[in-house]
Amino acid sequence: MPKSVRLKSFELVAREINEVDVGSLHALSVAVGWPHRPKDWDWLRQFGRGIAVVDSIGRVFGSAMWFPYGQDVAMIGLVITTPRSQAQGNARWLMEQVFEECRGRNLYLNSTRAAHNLYVSLGFANEATVWMHQGTVASSLPNLPAPNGDLIEAGIDALGQIIELDTQAFGWKREELISALVPISSIQTLRRDGRIVGYSMCREFGRGHVIGPVVASNDDDALQLIAVHLRNLKGQFARVDTRETGPLVKFLRASDFQVAERVTTMSRGQLLLNRKAGEPWVYGLAGHALG
Ligand SMILES: CC(C)(COP(=O)(O)OP(=O)(O)OC[C@H]1O[C@@H](n2cnc3c(N)ncnc32)[C@H](O)[C@@H]1OP(=O)(O)O)[C@@H](O)C(=O)NCCC(=O)NCCS
Repeated sequence: MPKSVRLKSFELVAREINEVDVGSLHALSVAVGWPHRPKDWDWLRQFGRGIAVVDSIGRVFGSAMWFPYGQDVAMIGLVITTPRSQAQGNARWLMEQVFEECRGRNLYLNSTRAAHNLYVSLGFANEATVWMHQGTVASSLPNLPAPNGDLIEAGIDALGQIIELDTQAFGWKREELISALVPISSIQTLRRDGRIVGYSMCREFGRGHVIGPVVASNDDDALQLIAVHLRNLKGQFARVDTRETGPLVKFLRASDFQVAERVTTMSRGQLLLNRKAGEPWVYGLAGHALG
């Protein structure tokens, strides 16, 4: 009796991501060490689109999602293939299908180290590094001076102004994202002379909470907009994804955050990042898949 056997390889097909059981998608992200809960997948699937790769008996071998921001832009994320199907062309095939669906759009994503070669070979260019800071929030936070303006908790009534500010910071209108975040986030705004000059959101995600997006026009405002959430999260697990390297990072370190991962913002089409001194800027990402 031979001691080994070669099994027939699987035939995989693409399915619309909403047709797949959330438990299988959760198992997929757990298999690559990602923190998404079934709830997180469900929320992402409500406003994003995507593909799941399944075999003939419905087992999930991969995923790729994209989030339309208006007609001209898509953020790509949740590109995952099961460890046993990796390095066989599965992710490349998935990406080609995403390209088909996103024809004519500028494409942006945040690439892990594992996916970087793939994206370079598909024509994506590096723009910047994003650091994922996370940890159990310290019980005592570094002191900050009083904010320059009023920090005010906001609700749906502020949606229009928040979208306008976010568009200036992100460079494209991502109304779909902000509208989807509002019902599940606690929202803080910084107001000066009656105008919203910065905002931040905080929501449950993965192992704890994520603080983002954070939009402000300077480091001091951004710090205030992050600290206001951290004060409510002492002793709890939280995460901030940022491209910053200055005072914000110092503050996060002093609040017991550590860098857990770094990813690279990449674009295919018009460049995404265009920072101008004193103008609104994305200090904290909504998430790797969301920008
Ligand atoms: C990154 C990932 C999606 C790649 O999936 P995959 O199915 O192995 O990718 P493919 O087989 O289609 O390979 C595509 C290219 O990726 C590169 N690649 C694949 N595996 C690699 C590895 N282990 N190391 C370096 N490069 C690798 C190769 O350049 C390959 O090009 P080739 O087709 O010319 O050989 C998969 O490893 C994964 O799910 N990783 C964990 C989650 C993750 O990081 N997702 C990316 C989010 S941005």
